[in-house]
Amino acid sequence: MFLNLQNISKKFSNNSVLENINLEIQKGEFFSLLGPSGCGKTTLLRIISGLEHSDSGNIILEEKDVTKLTPQQRKVGIVFQNYALFPNMNVAKNVSYGLEIKKESKDVIDRKVKDVLKKVNLSHKENASVSELSGGEQQRASLARVIVNEPSLILFDEPLSNLDYALRLEAREELKRLQREAGITSVYVTHDQGEALALSDRIAVMNKGVIQQVGSPKDLYNNPVNSFVSGFVGHYNIFSSEESDEIMGITDIGKDEALIILPENLKIRKSEKPTNIQLKEILYNGSFTEFILKTQGKEIKSICFSNEKIAEFVIDDFALLEFNPGKIKVIKK
Ligand SMILES: Nc1ncnc2c1ncn2[C@@H]1O[C@H](COP(=O)(O)OP(=O)(O)OP(=O)(O)O)[C@@H](O)[C@H]1O
Ligand SMILES: [Mg+2]
Repeated sequence: MFLNLQNISKKFSNNSVLENINLEIQKGEFFSLLGPSGCGKTTLLRIISGLEHSDSGNIILEEKDVTKLTPQQRKVGIVFQNYALFPNMNVAKNVSYGLEIKKESKDVIDRKVKDVLKKVNLSHKENASVSELSGGEQQRASLARVIVNEPSLILFDEPLSNLDYALRLEAREELKRLQREAGITSVYVTHDQGEALALSDRIAVMNKGVIQQVGSPKDLYNNPVNSFVSGFVGHYNIFSSEESDEIMGITDIGKDEALIILPENLKIRKSEKPTNIQLKEILYNGSFTEFILKTQGKEIKSICFSNEKIAEFVIDDFALLEFNPGKIKVIKK
């Protein structure tokens, strides 16, 4: 095992931010910490890097206990959300800075900087000032600055969140390619479930400082263990015992359980007669359409792909639900 977090806990004043975190990360793995704002992702990343210390627990990196080591002693690179580039230096200088501190020879520095700029497609911007770079280029420059030091572990803290949507998708693809080619073990923090699903080998879903589930993207999406993970990762519809009975017509759900179904597995049929389910919103998305329905004060979501036939709906239409009982899951509340 490459990185092992053992019983990590952290409080700020009396506020418990991380509770007994245990994780095992393999060499070369792209591992994400996914959770809502304030759940402790950055704090955990800072503890792994050495910028912050935990109150208890140990961090084992490549068989070595690094719990008490400084960031410099850990051979860990960090890419921050705001890139933290030096604004008064050009791209090449930003990238070479770490090597100069290590007193590498000029030849070695020049070669390494050229290589890494080529890798991130920034060779043509070598002499540009970082303030002249686009958001995506800045993101690539900050990655180059980290890769050039050949860290054994890279930590990413929401590195794509400053980019607009189209650029974010492009940068996501680029990042995945670079990580795969370089084979550097990566721990990636995000609150964006789509990003985590697309990039990661495995994901730890966190809520309020506690790990809820660890698994591959497919695992988490298809087999969430509780209602937090099902809501956060899959945007499942979640029904309590009573709601299952009243809305889905399923009576055997226990009080401490919930019934869940993915929006794409919940289909709607138009009803000419009034029913207790009414369409409230239609969100067209290109390859699919989301239908937001309301029943007894509860909102539910149905997704229809563009290649599926569905009746023309208008807002306030009455609907009936259709689903394959095999697609329903029962989880802990
Ligand atoms: N230095 C600090 N002093 C006091 N409280 C802190 C400190 N750093 C973080 N916290 C608190 O710890 C909790 C977790 O913060 P953290 O930054 O780890 O969350 P996060 O999951 O990264 O959130 P986001 O997605 O918004 O970046 C928050 O309630 C935050 O206010
Ligand atoms: Mg954060």
